Amino acid sequence: MLTNPVLEAMKKRKSIRSYTSEQPSDEVLNAIAAAGQQAPFAAQLGSLLLKRDVKKNPFKAPWLFTVCIDLHRMETIMKARGWSRKMSDLGALILGVQDAAYVAENMVIAAESLGLGSCYLGATPMYAKTIIDDYGLPPKVFPLVQLTMGYPAEAAAVRPRYPMGFTLFEDRYPQFTTEEIARAMRVMDDGYLAQDYYRSHNAMIPLADGSEETFTYGDYSWTEHISRKLGQWGEDPSGLMNALRACGFFLDEPGTGEAA
Ligand SMILES: Cc1cc2nc3c(=O)[nH]c(=O)nc-3n(C[C@H](O)[C@H](O)[C@H](O)COP(=O)(O)O)c2cc1C
Repeated sequence: MLTNPVLEAMKKRKSIRSYTSEQPSDEVLNAIAAAGQQAPFAAQLGSLLLKRDVKKNPFKAPWLFTVCIDLHRMETIMKARGWSRKMSDLGALILGVQDAAYVAENMVIAAESLGLGSCYLGATPMYAKTIIDDYGLPPKVFPLVQLTMGYPAEAAAVRPRYPMGFTLFEDRYPQFTTEEIARAMRVMDDGYLAQDYYRSHNAMIPLADGSEETFTYGDYSWTEHISRKLGQWGEDPSGLMNALRACGFFLDEPGTGEAA
């Protein structure tokens, strides 16, 4: 397998959920933020909020970034040019998800290359109202995802991924065979079981229908875990829709073209 320092950093990265209390320097911060900023963009719609509060940050991380989809800043620029946005909030949101995600992941890889660890926090949009108050966000800024960062205080193992044949499809999307599905599930489940991952994180998701638990930490692994997440959580979209509306995103309305 080809390798170089960039690929090495990507291959050895893993989510870090325990940090030393050491505050990385501003030089390190600037390097990581600059790497994020240098990500490809559709419209430079990603912006970053930072909190350096070791005591309050999740996992007691020295840094907590909130990666935002920032249409407010874009509209400020457009206004200065005498323009207003006609693109719908939905269209701009999709562009913004793309832009913000690449910023975040560039930062993750940059952090890894400098000896820092990180972990995404995906429930961020559900805390939109708190984040609006905490940072004084103007309308049209949506907190997409948070990222804890700092020097690792755990030596986590690299986590498994699907076999490449289950991810990279050339020319045509395949019909998965029973064997391919079983192999992909085995790779993921055996990989996490070998790390005793769910037991060590005490992360088994209870069955919501109250039926008797048939798994133990001896056989509960990724495919069951992710199925329980997507199979039980988030049925009602109203929480997310409310969070978007609280941030001034109205997804089923056409763009107005009115000045911000
Ligand atoms: C969008 C996103 C949201 C995530 N949310 C959480 C989270 O809320 N809590 C957490 O501990 N890990 C979270 N993670 C980390 C994933 O659990 C982790 O990336 C995945 O298990 C693969 O492990 P690895 O990053 O160590 O390779 C999130 C990752 C992503 C990309």
